[in-house]
Amino acid sequence: MQALDELIERAANAIDAADNERDLEQLRVTYLGKKGEVTALLKGLGRLPAEERPAAGQAINVAKARLEERLETRRSALNSAQLGARIAEETIDVTLPGRRRGQGGVHPHTQTMQRIETIFRNAGYGVATGPEVETEYYNFEALNIPAHHPARAMHDTFYLEGGAYLLRTHTSPVQARVMEQSQPPIRIICPGKVFRVDSDMTHSPMFHQVEGLVVDRDISFADLKGTVIEFLRVFFEADLKVRFRPSFFPFTEPSAEVDVECVHCRGAGCRVCSQSGWLEVMGCGMVHPRVLEMSGIDAETYTGFAFGFGVDRLSMLYYSVDDLRLFYDNDLRFLAQFR
Ligand code: PHE
Repeated sequence: MQALDELIERAANAIDAADNERDLEQLRVTYLGKKGEVTALLKGLGRLPAEERPAAGQAINVAKARLEERLETRRSALNSAQLGARIAEETIDVTLPGRRRGQGGVHPHTQTMQRIETIFRNAGYGVATGPEVETEYYNFEALNIPAHHPARAMHDTFYLEGGAYLLRTHTSPVQARVMEQSQPPIRIICPGKVFRVDSDMTHSPMFHQVEGLVVDRDISFADLKGTVIEFLRVFFEADLKVRFRPSFFPFTEPSAEVDVECVHCRGAGCRVCSQSGWLEVMGCGMVHPRVLEMSGIDAETYTGFAFGFGVDRLSMLYYSVDDLRLFYDNDLRFLAQFR
């Protein structure tokens, strides 16, 4: 009987210590299996005197039942611990916010373009477009820039293989294209990409311009001035001073360059305006009579004005960004600020 008690004690401890089902099953075999220790005790009953057998048999059976129960208890404890661990591991916190998809935004230059278009549409202008791959005729000749004219050298042109085509160096060729296809009154802007062999902090080989063209009877330089001044004030949302400096373009006569009071220092002088208090923002002038005639418009009856400016530069000034390349690096940390 003492051996039985010890056996039960040992088995019970082993069962309680088992930490997985395989060990538990091994213990069952060891004690209760066909060749197990408890089974061996039952088999050994025959060696006892007959009067001791019933009591001993009963004690062994009770012990066997207790071990079986203990095994079952341990098994279900292990099972629920395992289940608990799995639930903990696979837990989903439904209160966490979902992962959002990043939302794109309109590029700051595109936003600037759209604002400019809106300003001019509100003033009754249409929007024209032309090809980025141009011919020498439209990019130069039709604009009164003949071959060997020194102005061609200033344009740092990208020529396409073969030399018949080039990447337009300005949006002015669209002036000629529009005038060829329509008669006055003409009132359009042409936003678009232009290309020059140039690349540094303030120049990108591809940049954006907006061209303006108005042709009608009695269009004067005063109309040009009024239009440009009003546009700049609406664009910069400020009552800025504007000045016109005499200049030269082969396709306008007279020609001017337009300076606007520095949007940063309001004329006091700062780094942005190189201490001058002024920012040069566009070229303009009265359409040269030869340009009108070449495109089939009667220069005796009609006059017109044209202007052209860099959108990238206006964007930089409007958003206070001092490195043009930021706009083209596509760094989302930069671009996300303009959403
Ligand atoms: N095309 C000129 C440039 O790119 C700008 C301009 C346009 C000047 C129209 C006069 C009239 O510099």
